Amino acid sequence: MTSIAVVPGSFDPVTLGHLDVIRRAQGLFDQLHVVVVHNPDKKALLPIAQRVALIEKALGQAGITGVTVTSWSVGLLVDYCVEVGAKVLVKGVRSPADVSYETPMAIVNRKLADIETVFLMPDPAHGHVSSSLVRQVARLGGDISPYVPQVVKDFIDTNGLPD
Ligand code: PNS
Repeated sequence: MTSIAVVPGSFDPVTLGHLDVIRRAQGLFDQLHVVVVHNPDKKALLPIAQRVALIEKALGQAGITGVTVTSWSVGLLVDYCVEVGAKVLVKGVRSPADVSYETPMAIVNRKLADIETVFLMPDPAHGHVSSSLVRQVARLGGDISPYVPQVVKDFIDTNGLPD
């Protein structure tokens, strides 16, 4: 049976930590879908379509091929999983705080549609990297290049930040 997994997130913007988790997940499953989902709890930096485009370019730059990148905005994340036949969600967890944040969602997603969640630990080199930190540094004019793929840095340098 083909194993299909979904790596969901805001990816606003995609970070080197995300790429690390995607690369690790790709080694564990036959097919991988990276799905950008709007998180209403977070003030967005980039439009969803732009986040998808940046992930595609970042994966290309990193030599990661064969990953489906898309967005989902019409319902529950597990609806997407059911639609594509994915049985597993993959989340990167950097700390016990991340596990605490993710655990209720994992249990709800299992109750909703029998979708299991697998937690992967990123390389400790990326342990402190988060999109929210990157958004804050970018908004305040700091250098985000240690935390994001080159394509993200180039995009923000060229286009500036949306209001
Ligand atoms: O990168 P983030 O912001 O931590 O990702 C959180 C995200 C988008 C994966 C989470 O908010 C989510 O799963 N949203 C989908 C909405 C949904 O299905 N909610 C019910 C079960 S948790």
